[in-house]
Amino acid sequence: MTILFCSSPRATNRWRPHLATAFANRDVRFWPETGDAAAIEYAMVWQPEPGLLASLPNLKLIASLAAGVDHILSDPVLPSGVPIMRLVDPYMTQAMSEYVTLQVLRLHRQDFDYRAHQAAAEWREHGQKNAAERPVGILGFGQLGQDAGRKLQAIGFDVAGWSRSPKEVPGFTTYAGAAGLDALLGRSEILVSLLPSTAETEGILDAGLFARLPQGAGLVNAGRGRHLVENDLLAALDSGQLSAASLDVFREEPLPVTHPFWRHPRIIVTPHVAAETHPSTAVAIIAQAIDDLEAGLPLANLIDPRRGY
Ligand code: NDP
Ligand code: OXD
Repeated sequence: MTILFCSSPRATNRWRPHLATAFANRDVRFWPETGDAAAIEYAMVWQPEPGLLASLPNLKLIASLAAGVDHILSDPVLPSGVPIMRLVDPYMTQAMSEYVTLQVLRLHRQDFDYRAHQAAAEWREHGQKNAAERPVGILGFGQLGQDAGRKLQAIGFDVAGWSRSPKEVPGFTTYAGAAGLDALLGRSEILVSLLPSTAETEGILDAGLFARLPQGAGLVNAGRGRHLVENDLLAALDSGQLSAASLDVFREEPLPVTHPFWRHPRIIVTPHVAAETHPSTAVAIIAQAIDDLEAGLPLANLIDPRRGY
């Protein structure tokens, strides 16, 4: 059995020792040194170059090295019929919940204001709400959204979630589809986006959506940069419709040095690190999936290419 690993040079270096241990008796190749393409049955990928996967005639499984699969589905010539598995790793889920909790608390506790006051040596207090008085809405109430929701709820926040299909999640108010979005937005003083990048979610964080939030709401985007209409965010911060934003993902990554987000006093930028893939846990998950497939067992976390996630 031959496995192709394809990612950035930095990630490849991080993964090598873990792949050597997990696949000790298997032939692991590292892109671009693919060798005989017909031998490759499994591909573990992050942002594969278009056409690479279609050039592997005996591929049985495409394993995403990320929770999102937009970096695979953007390939216009994907091989048809080859299952695509996304990464669902409790380590990453916990990391995302840490990031979301950190950013929600920054917004809730007016950290943007207090940092600015400190820079000006200004002793100034703002009114303080309790977490229970701060409704948080989560766009994308899947693996990551629900875990972050539970952790925010444990702190005391009043959390509601929004998904594509209606769902009951014990302890949460949930909304679904276009019909449920207004109600979710109308109650969300802090809005967290953990949506996948699909045709339906492209540009969803725009002026029209911001206008439906309570005035002065805060935004956290850790889903994908393509969700955000960047100039609409800048305008909403200028007008006070939004008070601040924490952004981990961007339309262009790395974020260009001249980009206004870097120096905006009401924006926190992090370099797509909310929940990095963790090779030592992720390799075991992918190795198990390969074993399951070889044993004829059903695979979990396969995505639906038509749906886009
Ligand atoms: P899931 O597939 O478990 O959850 C996705 C959620 O989004 C589901 O609730 C789904 O609804 C909902 N959704 C999808 N499309 C729509 C739509 N059009 N309208 C409303 N809701 C929609 O994914 P994860 O939670 O594991 O990951 C979510 C995303 O987080 C990833 O795709 C990735 O882009 C991002 N991510 C970012 C990271 C970072 O470091 N910044 C790290 C990891 C992930 P339904 O339940 O009905 O299917
Ligand atoms: C992911 C990511 O999708 O890191 O896992 O963005």
